[in-house]
Amino acid sequence: MMFALVGCQGATEKEVLTMGTNAAFPPYEFVDADNNIVGIDAEIAAAVADKLGMELEIKDMAFDSLITAVSSGSIDVVLAGMTVTPERAESVNFSDSYATGIQVVIVTEDSAIATIDDLEGKKIGVQSGTTGDFYCSDTPENGGYGEDAVSRYDNGALAVAALQNGQVDCVVIDNEPAKAFVEANEGLKILETEYITEEYAAAIAKENVELLDKFNAALAELEAEGKLDEIIGKYIKAE
Ligand code: ARG
Repeated sequence: MMFALVGCQGATEKEVLTMGTNAAFPPYEFVDADNNIVGIDAEIAAAVADKLGMELEIKDMAFDSLITAVSSGSIDVVLAGMTVTPERAESVNFSDSYATGIQVVIVTEDSAIATIDDLEGKKIGVQSGTTGDFYCSDTPENGGYGEDAVSRYDNGALAVAALQNGQVDCVVIDNEPAKAFVEANEGLKILETEYITEEYAAAIAKENVELLDKFNAALAELEAEGKLDEIIGKYIKAE
């Protein structure tokens, strides 16, 4: 459609960068009181889009549908506190990493579980399709606890609610959301022993090498300008 409104002449419409996420993962992405999707990933994506002269649009979806959505082209990029894994890298390209995540274990304050070694034979809550899910549901030979040990939930908050109801004995999830959930709920704590350290990156369709290059270049600039640290520091306070 063509518009010939005075004042709009010459204005070129900005290209849209569509980011997919699962906005139940504070402080990386969550829905604020005004119903906006905010957080570290949303701000990084907005800063990248700005550098590329694009307009950011965010789509909230189930975490385990993000890889398919980006590889099929229904979104341009995933920023979702997504861990780089070799399996995912078979379907998508990952950008340079912009953050580190650690899988930790949340238990109730009165729990008998004191270390990772106590998880054997326990019911473990996870967010479906996350690395926490993959590690825990893996076979004992591979360091997991087996399919039967794991209960899957659509998001971390639901897994934490199941822990509070006594439906699971612990929740395995990334450290920053874990802190947010423990802060927001009474009677929970995070085990001192950390499970696994991982890298977060943006995921982009294999074919879209142009966007991958542009994304990485913008990310490097944001890093050099101190903007990346500024965004992260806004949401994660140094201890
Ligand atoms: N880092 C984990 C993974 O990649 C969990 C990410 C969950 N992110 C989210 N937005 N719900 O599997």
